[in-house]
Amino acid sequence: MFKLDRKSILIGTSAFAASVVLLSGCGDSTSTGVASNTSKSCEIGVYKIIDKHAIDGGVIYARQNGVYTDYRYNQQSMKGLNYGRPATANEIKAWNVDALPDGTGLPKGQGSVEEGDELFEAQCASCHGDFGGGGKGYPQLTGGNQDKDENGIVKVLKNQRLLPGMAAPKRTVGTYWPKATTLFTYIRDAMPYAHPKSLTDDQVYAITAYILSQNEIKIDGVEMDDEYVLNAKKLTQVVLPNNNGFYPDIDGAKGPANVKAFFADRAKNIGMGTRCMHDCKDISKDGHGKMVAPSVFKIKYEMSDVVPPYAYARDLPPEVDTGLVSKGEKMYNTSCKLCHGTDTMGAPMVGDKEAWASVMQKGLHEVVHNAIAGTGGMPPKGGNADLSDADIKTIVEFMANSSK
Ligand code: HEC
Ligand code: HEC
Repeated sequence: MFKLDRKSILIGTSAFAASVVLLSGCGDSTSTGVASNTSKSCEIGVYKIIDKHAIDGGVIYARQNGVYTDYRYNQQSMKGLNYGRPATANEIKAWNVDALPDGTGLPKGQGSVEEGDELFEAQCASCHGDFGGGGKGYPQLTGGNQDKDENGIVKVLKNQRLLPGMAAPKRTVGTYWPKATTLFTYIRDAMPYAHPKSLTDDQVYAITAYILSQNEIKIDGVEMDDEYVLNAKKLTQVVLPNNNGFYPDIDGAKGPANVKAFFADRAKNIGMGTRCMHDCKDISKDGHGKMVAPSVFKIKYEMSDVVPPYAYARDLPPEVDTGLVSKGEKMYNTSCKLCHGTDTMGAPMVGDKEAWASVMQKGLHEVVHNAIAGTGGMPPKGGNADLSDADIKTIVEFMANSSK
């Protein structure tokens, strides 16, 4: 559907082809079917507008008097597709459950730091560590506030940590999250991980209070001690250290301009260098060897921090021959274990020292012969005629050696 959208937009804009330049990657834009020029510009995923429209997914940004207007959907290009139906008011209500920083959407209720402490220990610490301090491979929620600048102000993490070895504050609620109301929504809707939405609103307030207190957050100048009771009103008063750390401000008339300015200052706001998956060229120097931009940064660094929470094994791992399981043991497992793996079948059980000591008194040669020819309840070659005499000898040696 997306593709269709996009296609129709591309067709729709082909009239402007001469005026639209689509830069996807370093000068390679021919595959899009939109006319391109040979610009050397290398802004991956950024569309440059020469004239009337820009294309970005299914969204068209109208331009008026040479400036961007607010984003809007291109209603025309959706006409005639005739799929779906408008969501009903109730559907939107059910979906629109997040709590906004101004308190919109926060439910009634309250909870104390102390209650939150108990709940956290019982339901969260197993993954997030004692006091939310991490260490178990799951996100660390607290403890970043120990990282302070020379004025004693908590250092916050504004940008992605891109380069290895780049010192940056720990990423915790106190150092990274801009709004405390998000914490409420997130916990209520997503945690505890294995059974989300199991907490009452009061409990969520309590746990939110506890996490904020562990991050040494003050509300309206008041420290959050054990007795502190958090409710909707107080939650909206929380100002997290990273409150203003997120750029750009996308709201209001200046939003689009802010976004542009934000992405223009790559080194500061996005990180160093240009994202690159493979065949990365070093664009750090201009033709004269002068440093113009931080060197190319490979996207793998961005991903290096992910610790998958749970392993979902979809397939059995391929069998690897480690050399630890001998040939004799393998053949034993498939042809003999059924009877010799337990003592209930009347066969001398592998591992039963006494039984095998008594069997082996006859001497290896005789015992192997019996296994080949069969004896008593023992069928010839254990019933597997495909095994050679030498195989049987190998297996019998394994059985006897495993029973010493
Ligand atoms: C079974 C392990 C587990 C338990 C128990 C658990 N969590 Fe989580 N939690 C996770 C994982 C995994 C993530 C990361 C999820 C993701 O990024 O999609 C996470 C993320 C979070 C985050 C966001 C952290 C961040 O900075 O991105 C918060 C806050 C959080 N959990 C709070 C809680 C609270 C509160 C509880 C107890 C009510 C809880 N968790 C119980 C595994 C757990
Ligand atoms: C269907 C069950 C069964 C299977 C399969 C089986 N065994 Fe046996 N095995 C027996 C029983 C029962 C005895 C005890 C025979 C007796 O009491 O004389 C026995 C005895 C033996 C003995 C001792 C012979 C002796 O001299 O007393 C050896 C050695 C042996 N089996 C090897 C093997 C090997 C090797 C395989 C696989 C290739 C195998 N068995 C598969 C049932 C089985």
